Amino acid sequence: MIFPLLLLALAIGGSHGQFPTVCTTEETLKNKTCCPWFFGSPCGTNANRGRCIDWEPRSADSQHHDDRLYWPQGHFAFTCECFGNYGGFNCGKCKPGYSGDKCDKPKTVVRKEIRELSFKERERFFSYLNLAKYTISKDYVILVTGDRHHRGTYKFISATIYDVFVWIHYYAMKSIMENNTFSTKTNYAHAGPAFPGWHRRLLLFLESEIQELMGDEDFGLPYYNWSHEKNCSICTEDFLGSNDLQGNIQSSSCFGSWGAICSGYYYTDTYCRSAERGFYVENLLRKPGRDPTTRIPTYQDVQETLKWEAFDAEPFDKTSKYSFRNCLEGFVNPLDGDSPGMNMHNMFHHYIGGTMSQVPVSANDPIFVVHHCYIDKLYEVWIQKYNATPETYPENPHPGHRPLDCTVPFLPCVTNKHLLQTSTDYGYEYTHMDLD
Ligand SMILES: *[C@@H]1O[C@H](CO)[C@@H](O)[C@H](O)[C@H]1NC(C)=O
Ligand SMILES: *[C@@H]1O[C@H](CO)[C@@H](O)[C@H](O)[C@H]1NC(C)=O
Ligand SMILES: *[C@@H]1O[C@H](CO)[C@@H](O)[C@H](O)[C@H]1NC(C)=O
Ligand SMILES: *[C@@H]1O[C@H](CO)[C@@H](O)[C@H](O)[C@H]1NC(C)=O
Repeated sequence: MIFPLLLLALAIGGSHGQFPTVCTTEETLKNKTCCPWFFGSPCGTNANRGRCIDWEPRSADSQHHDDRLYWPQGHFAFTCECFGNYGGFNCGKCKPGYSGDKCDKPKTVVRKEIRELSFKERERFFSYLNLAKYTISKDYVILVTGDRHHRGTYKFISATIYDVFVWIHYYAMKSIMENNTFSTKTNYAHAGPAFPGWHRRLLLFLESEIQELMGDEDFGLPYYNWSHEKNCSICTEDFLGSNDLQGNIQSSSCFGSWGAICSGYYYTDTYCRSAERGFYVENLLRKPGRDPTTRIPTYQDVQETLKWEAFDAEPFDKTSKYSFRNCLEGFVNPLDGDSPGMNMHNMFHHYIGGTMSQVPVSANDPIFVVHHCYIDKLYEVWIQKYNATPETYPENPHPGHRPLDCTVPFLPCVTNKHLLQTSTDYGYEYTHMDLD
């Protein structure tokens, strides 16, 4: 893959910092301010769209040096807070679910089952993904480091829209640095109560970036309801591409030439080392069904997951019992809610194999999108079934998972608890919500 060399040429230097490109200049990083101008004023203040707020410093445990702790404070002391239906890091956009210059027109996009898309809709989805994969983001850069212990080595480089999406997942999933050592127990997006809401936010990011890129505000991501599948029926020429024995995607599929960023994720001391070198070190790989210890979760697994009424349970991690979140995420068996082992969300990742089974970089494979959209649909079914609200979200002590923690690394801040509400509040709905 030659294309990413371009990324290197566009690389932006800088001592440390975070993604909106305009917030990664020497000056903004030094004064820790990310309140970009819109309509002639920071955060569109003059147009009454938002204001620049000063985060009340929460003094971090001095042993805990992770740059993502108390997001966004590790990078910015000032960020935008948007009023009403305004959104975006400078309040220049609308929140999901609204459109128009004044963001006063409600809208709802529909997320459909991928196999139920018309031929035209399906081709549209694949071509949108492919354009997102090859269009440099005008708004965001990604953080790569030399060394996570030393901010002096932090560096921002440009990336394509789809790669920014991949990187966000990767960044949130890096292990947490405590006492200068790395803990793999949890991270900022998995193995805790933030898991479903965090991924909801990630999908909304991709969906709205694609809507904007294509000027198609009704575009909705499709989901893959795999609950009646024995094999991956979308791992074919007509859908996401078939693969050879080595896992390479057929070259006639547009995904056949997709490179995977941040491969080499196992270097805990760095962020996205491979992007730093300006190369996709490897292409997308997929080996559905190859690992005999995995299978696609069944319809029964799905039903059993939805029967757990408690959103989550102590100790709010991989060992939580009788917890909807932990059954959905798949660290325990949904049948008894108790026995550890790979299930549901986790199992599907490993069933697909290749890039998808390397979970930190799994978003490189577009199957991630349709899989997580289905996980989000199950989350939505559960929310509606039990009339859950933000108040349902549990108090818990885990960094990044507390109810009022901002989801890492999104701007403006949306807290975990506010991602526990019905999807129509976020401007989208799923087909076939009439469950049997
Ligand atoms: C930080 O620097 C930016 C860019 O020069 C400036 O617009 C902003 O007012 C500064 N913020 C603070 C709080 O000093
Ligand atoms: C980090 O160090 C502090 C003080 O020595 C200790 O109390 C804490 O348990 C340590 N945390 C971890 C995760 O090792
Ligand atoms: C489909 O899945 C079943 C059950 O997991 C497996 O036994 C079978 O070999 C798979 N078939 C193909 C064509 O991969
Ligand atoms: C998945 O598809 C099956 C078969 O069409 C259907 O019975 C089930 O309700 C669907 N589940 C979800 C959550 O979409």
